[in-house]
Amino acid sequence: MKRLTVPAIKRRKFGGKTDEPLVMLTAYTARQAQLLDPHCDLLLVGDSLGQVIYGLPSTLAVTLDMMCAHGAAVVRGSFHALVVIDMPFGSYEASPEQAFTSASRVLAETGAAAVKLEGGEAMAETIRFLTERGIPVMAHVGLTPQAVNALGGYAARGKSQEEHAKIVADGRAVSDAGAFAVVIEGVLEPIAVALTQTLDIPTIGIGASAKCDGQVLVTEDMLGMFERTARFVKRYDDLATRISEAVATYADEVRSRSFPTADQTYRAKT
Ligand code: KIV
Ligand code: NA
Repeated sequence: MKRLTVPAIKRRKFGGKTDEPLVMLTAYTARQAQLLDPHCDLLLVGDSLGQVIYGLPSTLAVTLDMMCAHGAAVVRGSFHALVVIDMPFGSYEASPEQAFTSASRVLAETGAAAVKLEGGEAMAETIRFLTERGIPVMAHVGLTPQAVNALGGYAARGKSQEEHAKIVADGRAVSDAGAFAVVIEGVLEPIAVALTQTLDIPTIGIGASAKCDGQVLVTEDMLGMFERTARFVKRYDDLATRISEAVATYADEVRSRSFPTADQTYRAKT
């Protein structure tokens, strides 16, 4: 099976040839990518790996080196889904040129086909600069975690009329600038519905609306690896409990010398 391409994803807009929503999840490692790849249209190497993999308090300290290392692993572990790699905080905001230098390094070192960056109107010029130079960009509007200090937290966005209008303008701006898709995170539903109905590019919701053209979640969140997650996360499993139980059994068996048994022990043939 050939890997999905950026134009193929861009065509996946409601009212287009297919009304099948885009399925996207985050992946940070090769093995995780192998497991998700058959089920997903897109794999996102999210800068959420800062919290999920590195135990950082936010995404702000994530580096290009981290994104390149994990991005390359995810590309190696997948062959069907389009891999999109987050541009980390500080690697693209200063200028379109800075963004091109960083994004071209990401694509060259990982083999991924697209990058994602946060921001609306303020990033429109940069999105145009990159797309016109062969770097497909997925945009990310609404609750943008790299702006946590400016936003004052991770609360849902768009509760005032001004904020609502600003997020709609952001979505319009990134679409006009040439983004091939846009993630809409943590907004009141009417904003996500309005953007989905008015933009020509697919909208991918997280804490947005079932009416978006696709959905994304952080894989560890939906698998129940964390005790606390945002309200928009649905838990499809409780891996934290399952891992704790398995490890507790292993620890008991080591301490009681019931592991390893003959099955796990090498002996000379007689
Ligand atoms: O970093 C990330 O995982 C993301 C998704 C939640 C959209 O940006
Ligand atoms: Na992100």
